[in-house]
Amino acid sequence: MEKISVIGGKRLHGSITVGGMKNAALPILLGTILVGDKCVIENLPEISDIKSSLDILSSLGATVKMLDRTTVEINTASVRPGTMPYELARSMRASYYVVGAELGRFGTSRAACPGGCDFGVRPIDQHIKGFEALGAKVDVVDGCINCVAPEGLTGSSIYMDIVSVGATINIMLAAVLAKGMTVIDNAAKEPHVVDVANFLNTCGADISGAGTDVIKIRGVESLHGVTYAIIPDMIEAGTFMMCAAATGSDLTIENVIPKHLESITAKLEEMGVDIEDFGDAVRVKSVQGPLRRINVKTMPYPGYPTDMNPQIAVLLCLAQGTSILTEGVWDTRFKYVEELTRMGAHITVDGRKAVIEGVSALKPATVKCSDLRAGAAMVIAALATEGETVIENIYHIERGYEHLCEKLRGAGADIKKIYVPDTGSATKAV
Ligand code: UD1
Repeated sequence: MEKISVIGGKRLHGSITVGGMKNAALPILLGTILVGDKCVIENLPEISDIKSSLDILSSLGATVKMLDRTTVEINTASVRPGTMPYELARSMRASYYVVGAELGRFGTSRAACPGGCDFGVRPIDQHIKGFEALGAKVDVVDGCINCVAPEGLTGSSIYMDIVSVGATINIMLAAVLAKGMTVIDNAAKEPHVVDVANFLNTCGADISGAGTDVIKIRGVESLHGVTYAIIPDMIEAGTFMMCAAATGSDLTIENVIPKHLESITAKLEEMGVDIEDFGDAVRVKSVQGPLRRINVKTMPYPGYPTDMNPQIAVLLCLAQGTSILTEGVWDTRFKYVEELTRMGAHITVDGRKAVIEGVSALKPATVKCSDLRAGAAMVIAALATEGETVIENIYHIERGYEHLCEKLRGAGADIKKIYVPDTGSATKAV
């Protein structure tokens, strides 16, 4: 079993470079199904969800070749729809993008319902509503989504009842090759929605309005292969910003788009942290003394992201006074609270609201990751805490953060992965 060991209390310094955005890379990789040609995708993050996506593409009959650590060549000419294995579909949430892409290209798809982090109920009704509006017949039977559009798909106007990243992207994928115009109203505005639209447009699609709440997709006959580079990961960048703020450090985060970080920057500044914008990097400079208490509510972009909820909770634990953190997107995003409580945090959760009373310091403990971003919060808490903290269930972290230990070590953290054999207590560094 692999764990992470952190000897906390050290300041970070120098710089850390951010990789490609997971939540853009996954739909872009699976979106290559629509292209039926050779694409080269660059700046992929080296994380296990990318490996799962490439395994999905191979299982469907695509040719997949890594050109270097972060670049892949994919040829989807020979993809057979409806053949994604159950286990791969369950391995991550983003597997549902196969459905939009297959439906768009072949007019048919069949896939097991997706897995992913457990934030309570994660419905896909808005995806289905969109596919049906385009003319597909959709059934969900025995945990499988079956879609068929024998006459092909036809553009339509779709009003999203909820702002959903996944549904916006999935409908966009399905609509690119549909006949006529599709309009998605109340669309998600996240940078990864824009990146997927940019990728598809580079392939010959006709999508306008991505990044606003009305996206228009004029159907085209076919797409062609391209070379495309994924944008930097704003959540990875935000996580490193929080690492710096929690440890009173002076750290530069490189390869970022500061515009995407505005809500995170605003909250850190409110807490008394100094952020300098260098165009493609941000410098996080902690000021002397404790962080200031603030209230935070997570929201769809451009609001403060739900995927940065657990990370800022750690800072609020260390701030002077009582803060309120409200989750505006998911029902169950506070599973990490139990673990922070083991480290001495004072947090009371009532539904989607956490009341966090700042403490002067956290205590080292053995803690578990309950999901991907909760895992990132455990790392931040451990970095900020004197003594050794051991983090378990780190496979969650590896789904979404590339070389996290190496990157933080390069900035002065005492953090390493340890391998603990299941049967004994001996450990060795890996
Ligand atoms: C994506 C991200 C996830 C992030 C989330 C919000 C991926 C793989 N995952 O998830 O990390 O936390 O965006 O930024 O990119 N909803 C419905 N019906 C639907 C779809 C969603 O009611 O058909 C609701 C959800 O229950 C949730 C809200 O809409 O309350 C937002 O979900 P959505 O934006 O779809 O999240 P994902 O795309 O699953």
